[in-house]
Amino acid sequence: MTALTDSLKDTLSVGIKQIDDEHAQLFVCLDRLMLSVNTRKGERTSTEVLASLQAYAETHFRSEEALMASYAFPGLEPHRREHQTFVDAILRFQRLADDPQANTPQQMTAYLMQWLMAHIQRSDKALAAHIRAGGGE
Ligand SMILES: [Fe+2]
Ligand SMILES: [Fe+2]
Repeated sequence: MTALTDSLKDTLSVGIKQIDDEHAQLFVCLDRLMLSVNTRKGERTSTEVLASLQAYAETHFRSEEALMASYAFPGLEPHRREHQTFVDAILRFQRLADDPQANTPQQMTAYLMQWLMAHIQRSDKALAAHIRAGGGE
């Protein structure tokens, strides 16, 4: 099962292999989360999948932020804050079981998927364009 069609993969490509490869890995994590949530394989599965999504997202965000620093990307701080909103959403998701007012796991998973696609299309593409232009404005 995969959440992304080939044409969507093209749309989401930022044209920098390291970033595209890391995004592909994030979508693999999100696919696993969707599968786990939809098949209700039990809370333990979702907990493990969420932990690996969080770990991988943090690794990817640090690697993008290192690129931003080395290419003197002017939008580093707002971009870093966007990354934090994604990590915060994962942390909220992990606390869902304690909060009866919370969104459903399906809604949270859809939110994470939509957030990632929107962030790549806008913010990561802006970063990639800066890097491709040689950086260091
Ligand atoms: Fe990013
Ligand atoms: Fe990214």
